[in-house]
Amino acid sequence: MRVLSGIQPSGKLHIGNYFGMMKPALALQEEHEVFLFIADYHALTTTKDAAALRENVRDVALDFLACGLDPARTVFYRQSDVPEVHELAWLLSVVCPMGLLERAHSYKDKTARGMDANHALFAYPVLMAADILSVNADIVPVGKDQKQHLEIARDLAGKFNRQTGEEVFKLADPMILEEVAVVPGVDGQKMSKSYGNTIDIFGPPKQVRKTIMRVVTDSTPLEAPKDPDACNVFALYKLFADAEEAEALAGRYRAGGMGYGEAKKALAEKFEAHFAPYRDRRAELEAESEKVEAILRDGAERARGAIQPILSQARRAVGLA
Ligand code: ADP
Ligand code: TRP
Repeated sequence: MRVLSGIQPSGKLHIGNYFGMMKPALALQEEHEVFLFIADYHALTTTKDAAALRENVRDVALDFLACGLDPARTVFYRQSDVPEVHELAWLLSVVCPMGLLERAHSYKDKTARGMDANHALFAYPVLMAADILSVNADIVPVGKDQKQHLEIARDLAGKFNRQTGEEVFKLADPMILEEVAVVPGVDGQKMSKSYGNTIDIFGPPKQVRKTIMRVVTDSTPLEAPKDPDACNVFALYKLFADAEEAEALAGRYRAGGMGYGEAKKALAEKFEAHFAPYRDRRAELEAESEKVEAILRDGAERARGAIQPILSQARRAVGLA
């Protein structure tokens, strides 16, 4: 099976990104053909500073490699190194009804938050569909917020196939893991860099610890029993813990006599145990920037090799030479 996912290089990656997308995608590396890319064309819709974009691309590459992306197996590339994706985006634009994009909530949300209502932001889902259909992915691991984009990609694949009478594109299935579909941020809202409520994977350890101690809880007194399922700290702890550890902490919540501060400390320890080895690996990679660049270039070549035959088929289907 072919798996594809992408992430925008638009800031520091956080544990919502990690559990929602990175970890599920990386877990598929062993048994499937995985394509992972850095969506820098997409990031241009919001990042206007060239130096910042370059730095963010480099950061995301380091983050993925440090967290276990195996470049020998997984095709890891920068979207902008694969211009074929844009050609495909045009072929998909031609079959894309305006209404489909007008209903897309990401555009509405972003412009409501004051972003420029430019054409690229509006057409974002078409480019995303091109990313997915360009490799004819079967599965796309993402967080829940990407669900509508995946539906649009399926719609466009179906429309293209129907209009041309050829089965050029597969209808990709989203893979949205229920237990990590929406990772809460420190304020209890969905964790997102746009909300300033993130716990960053590679933030300085002291700062991460402070951030964890700020996770919002209710005012149940220390001695009273507490509901683990209503607590943000527990929701985050569960992401790191195995079933037995989660049950043990849940028992302590229900028994009373444990303050939220203690649960936060347990979470901070889990975070540190999980990410410290990745942090070390990242520091090593950071010193080998040429190696990272070579990995991305090799990935782009392999991606283009996979994409070109599919694009040729799409071109022929619409009557291009
Ligand atoms: P952000 O909201 O911080 O800007 P992105 O939109 O760049 O994050 O998301 C990148 C990937 O991480 C997507 O697959 C998205 O669904 C996933 N993701 C982001 N935040 C969360 C979250 N809080 N819970 C689960 N998945 C998330
Ligand atoms: N829209 C995704 C996000 O903001 C990033 C993305 C771009 C993507 N193209 C994709 C994800 C294709 C999965 C598949 O997170």
